[in-house]
Amino acid sequence: MVQEGQSMFPGTRMRRNRADQWVRRLTRESSVTPDDLIWPLFVQEGTGERTPVPSMPGVERLSIDLVVDAVGEAKRLGIPAVAIFPVTPQELKTPDGKESTNSDNLVCRTVRAIKEKHDGVGVICDVALDPYTTHGQDGIVRDGKILNDETVEVLCQQAFVQARAGCDVIAPSDMMDGRVGAIRNALDEEGLTEVSLLAYSAKYASAFYGPFRDAVGSAQSLGSADKRTYQMDPANTDEALREVALDVAEGADMVMVKPGMPYLDIVRRVKDTFGLPTFAYQVSGEYAMLRGAADQGWLDWEKGIVESMVCFKRAGADGVLTYAAPEIARLLGA
Ligand code: PBG
Repeated sequence: MVQEGQSMFPGTRMRRNRADQWVRRLTRESSVTPDDLIWPLFVQEGTGERTPVPSMPGVERLSIDLVVDAVGEAKRLGIPAVAIFPVTPQELKTPDGKESTNSDNLVCRTVRAIKEKHDGVGVICDVALDPYTTHGQDGIVRDGKILNDETVEVLCQQAFVQARAGCDVIAPSDMMDGRVGAIRNALDEEGLTEVSLLAYSAKYASAFYGPFRDAVGSAQSLGSADKRTYQMDPANTDEALREVALDVAEGADMVMVKPGMPYLDIVRRVKDTFGLPTFAYQVSGEYAMLRGAADQGWLDWEKGIVESMVCFKRAGADGVLTYAAPEIARLLGA
């Protein structure tokens, strides 16, 4: 970067641009605002009920009425969108995850309740079978194998009931092949052309999802099994670009990289290569790491969580799904 003829120290002093708050503000490359935030919410049955998630201090599972209140809070704080994740009662889980296609399931009722009360906040719904299956896998299992095409058919029905309930964005998080195109077609055939697709395109088989699986109750269903035959190998990066290319070709409006902070190199490559809206998911384990260390007094939560957002922006993310969204919005002065 330093070219011949360019002045070096002592003619050049890099600290001049850092000397005062005003010049730091003036020369800052990345900024974070509430516009960058998507708030994931866990919904459970009941009324007026909140249940803490032990591995995610500060995060609670909320009954539908309280999720509706949380969306009101998101609106006040200027958070543009929420993402809904259901805690499916154990007795409704089956090997084929059929409850996912019930137009009166927990997610669909939640979306309808939100839309009755609030406008102006985007509602994103995950598409995958793991909250609904007895085995905790994102797809249908036969002879120990996760079936691709059979699963995609169910995912299309799941996307349809969620879109019908009024959600704005369908977010397939299952990593089956061909699901983005199949869901797009299924929605379009039903006239649901305005519903967007946010594809979890580069989703890795990650240990950082542990606390989420506790929260939605899929951890015990999954047991010692893993998702490595469909989620990506953390060692790979070229493969992430192929995944994104396919999802874009199949009709994704926006793409996501997940997890977030350990995968910022992927965020950067995806953003540079495709230049389309690119989101990163600061997943449950990342939240737990930061929060857990802060709760021990080992790092400053407020500074740490805001810095993490700056890092996502610097890497090229247009926005971040983060469980700390309301706290961050407040810290930013919303
Ligand atoms: C479901 C899904 C998962 C997450 C989001 N959607 C878990 C998984 O794939 O096992 C993880 C989110 C988080 O850890 O915060 N397919």
